[in-house]
Amino acid sequence: MIRFTTIVPVFYLIVLLGCNEVKDYSLSSPSGKVNLKFFLNNGGTPSYLVSFNSQVVIDTSSLGFDLKTQEDLIAEFQVESTERRTINETWERPWGETKVVKDHCNELQVNLVGKADASRKLNLFFKVYDDGIGFRYVIPKLEGVDSIFVLSEETQFNVAPNPDTWWIKADYNSYEKRIRNSKLSESATLGTPVTMKMEDDVFMSIHEANLTNYAGMTLKHDTGSTLLKSELAPWPDGVKVRAVLPMKSPWRTIQLSETAGGLITSNLIVNLNEPSKIENTSWIKPMKYVGIWWSLHLFLETWSSGPKHGATTENTKRYIDFAAANNIKGVLVEGWNHGWDTWLNEDSFDYTTPYPDFDPEEVVRYAKHKGVEFIGHQETGGNIPEFEARIDSIFEMYKSLGVHAIKTGYAGKIRVPGQSHHGQFMVNHYRNVVETAAANQIMINAHEPIKDTGIRRTWPNMMTREGVRGMEWNAWSRGNSPSHTVDIAFTRMLSGPVDYTPGIFDVDFKNSWDRMPKWEEFKARGLTLEVRTTVAKQLALMVVLYSPMVMAADMIENYVDQPAFQFVRDLDVDWEDQRVIDAEIGEYITIARKAKDRWFLGSITNDEERMFEVSLDFLDTKKTYLATIYADGENADWELNPYPVNILTKEVNAKTILEINLAKGGGQAIEFRPVD
Ligand code: NOJ
Ligand code: CA
Repeated sequence: MIRFTTIVPVFYLIVLLGCNEVKDYSLSSPSGKVNLKFFLNNGGTPSYLVSFNSQVVIDTSSLGFDLKTQEDLIAEFQVESTERRTINETWERPWGETKVVKDHCNELQVNLVGKADASRKLNLFFKVYDDGIGFRYVIPKLEGVDSIFVLSEETQFNVAPNPDTWWIKADYNSYEKRIRNSKLSESATLGTPVTMKMEDDVFMSIHEANLTNYAGMTLKHDTGSTLLKSELAPWPDGVKVRAVLPMKSPWRTIQLSETAGGLITSNLIVNLNEPSKIENTSWIKPMKYVGIWWSLHLFLETWSSGPKHGATTENTKRYIDFAAANNIKGVLVEGWNHGWDTWLNEDSFDYTTPYPDFDPEEVVRYAKHKGVEFIGHQETGGNIPEFEARIDSIFEMYKSLGVHAIKTGYAGKIRVPGQSHHGQFMVNHYRNVVETAAANQIMINAHEPIKDTGIRRTWPNMMTREGVRGMEWNAWSRGNSPSHTVDIAFTRMLSGPVDYTPGIFDVDFKNSWDRMPKWEEFKARGLTLEVRTTVAKQLALMVVLYSPMVMAADMIENYVDQPAFQFVRDLDVDWEDQRVIDAEIGEYITIARKAKDRWFLGSITNDEERMFEVSLDFLDTKKTYLATIYADGENADWELNPYPVNILTKEVNAKTILEINLAKGGGQAIEFRPVD
């Protein structure tokens, strides 16, 4: 086997491959900067190698499957046939970071057959783009075999050499993890996306696209090694995937870019998903929302019934009034249905029966009359059989009420013995919810979801999801560090929209701490509950962390008489275009997004203060704009002085160089509005 421990120029590699007389099949991206080689190694093991701008980034790595009742599909293959295709098209989407997406790649299909046993078949599809590579397996229909059990997918990513890596620890039940940074060789088993800085101008992220009827992938490796191997979330009996043939795996993705920001603007993941299956998408609309939510996490109000019950008709109307008065479309209400009093004792939720102090018809009528959308909430508590049994009546209820968006939740363990959140059983459940929702014209915001793999292209009602250590952790746990959101932008966000729930204005809970039961408990442990950002950074997060549903997550009383809330009022989250202006993983990011004729800019830093000179060359050169700037105020600092926001306006144009100053743990948000 050929192994390189350091980066090796490609021409050298070709010579070496030639010496070993290994026939390889090469494929380059349209511009030629990404290159893939497929070959049969050791006389018959399907293998590949990836280079980027002539540097090897994935060294010889093998591919295959270990199956339960058939011969494994790992070695002793020969190439039966190959096919090549080029895709060069653009497609439009109802919402997204950009409205138009270019899909331009070269594709290689390799049909393999067993050398000694022609009944062993495996087809591989490689797509090579300028922003990376996707490959997938197809096990075709085999004679006399209708279904298979995959014991393990044997995909390797032999990362070369040993990059700086931003990663979360793999856990088949949660992605709500701190993001760590270490050399790849020092990491644990990884969740994806996992992002690496190979060199100053080589950035790479490994993930998957179109996770359908399959198990979620993690990446394991021996300590000290950079050879990553796929490890799928299992069924209770240890089988990873139960499949009827032909079986298509998800695409394994390797995003590549010369800049960290290029990973963010990459469309590889969505391009590897199928076109939309929803014809009429007029009911699918990005929106800002507020909700009866943060008060619950601070334990000021309760999901359950009783004197502090949050989801009352009256309280909801207060939120609806606020939304209507502040250019906010949605109001989320949690804790409106029966079940919250007993779910922790393993009882099931009643998904359709409201508590007596909540009147859904009246709430929806009132919201409609005010031009606001009621967003329903369905916490399953992991009781999937019960939820699936009721799924039609749940969605019919929302449809008959005229509700177009719901948030789902999967707190706690999956209540089917041996099942986890990320195995094939749950992948299929999450998809069933999205498809049933689509049939009833309902948008989904999933918490404790399966990871995003770009299915929003196929099912554009799959708006946003959590799958991240979001804002809630700051309310009742050791909170997120000042660098957490700067890490998310380059890791979790590469997979798709993030419902991080930004917009907390009372960042160290001064308006609430004397009523927060957890406050004393934390103090006794020498810890503080707080958000660890400045207020200006909370605004900037609404631009930086992409989501078509952006929550202004604080209690509405904390927005009253706050001049900085004007940014939230003015924000449009139906984006058409984006520019990552400057970015360094875990350090800072400045990003501009366009909505109709306005641009918005968000800039955030970790706990370092920073100054940037930003060229506004993304603006229309023919126009003058009024910039309304929400900057960290004098002496702002996430720890010592998080509140001051300096709001100023300035006339600018595409030639302006704007100085942006960020406090420690700070941020800046700007609206650019054309001047008539
Ligand atoms: C966890 C979710 O992330 C959170 O948003 C929700 O409020 C609770 N579960 C209750 O469903
Ligand atoms: Ca959560």
